[in-house]
Amino acid sequence: MADAVLKSEPIVKALHAAFCRDVPRHELLQLAATRVREAGSPYTGVYMYMLQGDQLELEAFDGRATDHTTIPVGRGVCGRAVAEMRDLNVPNVRTDADYLACSIETQSELVVLIRRHDEILGQIDVDSDVPDGFDASELQAVKDVADALAALL
Ligand code: SME
Repeated sequence: MADAVLKSEPIVKALHAAFCRDVPRHELLQLAATRVREAGSPYTGVYMYMLQGDQLELEAFDGRATDHTTIPVGRGVCGRAVAEMRDLNVPNVRTDADYLACSIETQSELVVLIRRHDEILGQIDVDSDVPDGFDASELQAVKDVADALAALL
């Protein structure tokens, strides 16, 4: 497996350090979004959607702003990930009938659930301007960040 662009270990350490300083939940989510996006391409935009009832609410992001601040479970790629209780890697957003566009520049998308055992807390949604931007190593790196958040939120 090729090395991931995203280095999760320093981000996980930063999240633990922030947790120890008692920072509010929003700051943990913002820190994760900013640090993941700072990895650079293929990470163009990082959106932290948290599950409130049957809706995903955008609580923090880094990158381009989006109109999709609330997404019902089952709608879009984000809502489908929750409905199907699995991570989704969409190599070409144009061929995905569920895709809700945030920017015409976006080519691919990765959704990784933040889950504590069977409970879904939310998700990290990553947009990329690169087609097929995310391989197994990037998925694992984003999962490391999601798992850290699941333990700290
Ligand atoms: N593309 C997502 C919507 C979120 S914005 O792109 C940030 C979807 O299809 O659910």
